[in-house]
Amino acid sequence: MTFPKEMQVVEIAAPGGPEQLRPSMRPLPRPGAGEVLVRVVAAGVNRPDVMQRQGRYPPPAGASDLPGMEIAGEIVELGPDVSGLALGDQITSLLPGGGYAAYAIAAAPLCMHLPAGISMVEAAAIPETYMTVWTNLFERGGCKAGDTVLIHGGTSGIGTTAIQLAAAWGARVFATAGTPEKVRACERLGAERGIDYRTEDFVAVIRAATGGYGIDVTLDMVAGSYVQRNLEIAALEGRVVTISMLGGSRAEINMSTVLLKRLTLTGSTLRPRTVAQKAAVADAMRRNVWPLLAVGRARPVIYRTFPLAQASEAHRLMESSSHIGKIVLTI
Ligand SMILES: NC(=O)c1ccc[n+]([C@@H]2O[C@H](COP(=O)([O-])OP(=O)(O)OC[C@H]3O[C@@H](n4cnc5c(N)ncnc54)[C@H](OP(=O)(O)O)[C@@H]3O)[C@@H](O)[C@H]2O)c1
Repeated sequence: MTFPKEMQVVEIAAPGGPEQLRPSMRPLPRPGAGEVLVRVVAAGVNRPDVMQRQGRYPPPAGASDLPGMEIAGEIVELGPDVSGLALGDQITSLLPGGGYAAYAIAAAPLCMHLPAGISMVEAAAIPETYMTVWTNLFERGGCKAGDTVLIHGGTSGIGTTAIQLAAAWGARVFATAGTPEKVRACERLGAERGIDYRTEDFVAVIRAATGGYGIDVTLDMVAGSYVQRNLEIAALEGRVVTISMLGGSRAEINMSTVLLKRLTLTGSTLRPRTVAQKAAVADAMRRNVWPLLAVGRARPVIYRTFPLAQASEAHRLMESSSHIGKIVLTI
């Protein structure tokens, strides 16, 4: 197969606003050992891309400086030492960066064949959010059938995924969001009760709805003023998993709440993990999540697509927080 020497990309010209995302041309990358070259059809947009553009979330050492942590497309070249994948395979993959491009390098163990009935646009919206939800809500948070679960940011890409997976698992789901329309969207996705955090107190709502029992697992992307309230509404032996700090990284908490209720506070980020650690999450996805996607019990919620060259518009939309679900770039 012959490849063009150069490819269309969107790069970060300088740390700053959405206007710093600029269409450009770059040499085609070549796959190394254990890697494949993917012709990208669609690339998911994630809030960490916005933080990277602002200069607040640098890519890990050795990763592409281009934004983009998830893609779907077709394998067009295999590097040495790749097994289980073939030219022409349609895959979706988690990347450490480099997704805002017509071609991208993916680690072979992180390439997941498209689930049945899932389009390229939907597939591009899966790796970053689903793997983050899997490893945090289920692996760290131990979410299981019958648990009460609280998802903050219920209509974010992460939130829409977490609500669906927790509900599919048989959990009772509560979710917070910032408008009545978003609250209704949380409930359509499987939340028993969406909570408008601008007009309602999630601690009081959940206490009443659970007869005082509280929450077994909380997935929190807000932190700040939410931290102590997460502890207050936690059930005995509850787990609170923090994945971001949109509301601030510092909080004052009452440790007696942690001791008396035997709580676990934890958190993690996916991006700095090794390929082997991410591959373990990808394996768990193939076993546990792919069957749900194949029968439609979970499905990425696509809010809007933009052509790659309009990535700055996609970031403006994400920063407006008016979206429900995922924003995807198409190439
Ligand atoms: N730890 C990890 O490995 C990992 C991986 C991926 C993403 N993340 C994090 O998870 C979060 C969600 O990512 P995403 O791509 O799903 O984002 P997203 O779709 O842009 O959603 C973020 C949502 O959070 C809500 N929100 C609540 N408090 C907010 C605040 N103080 N400022 C801004 N938004 C606030 C907003 O909805 P409302 O209108 O309801 O407020 C907003 O729509 C991000 O913070 C991201 O950095 C973590």
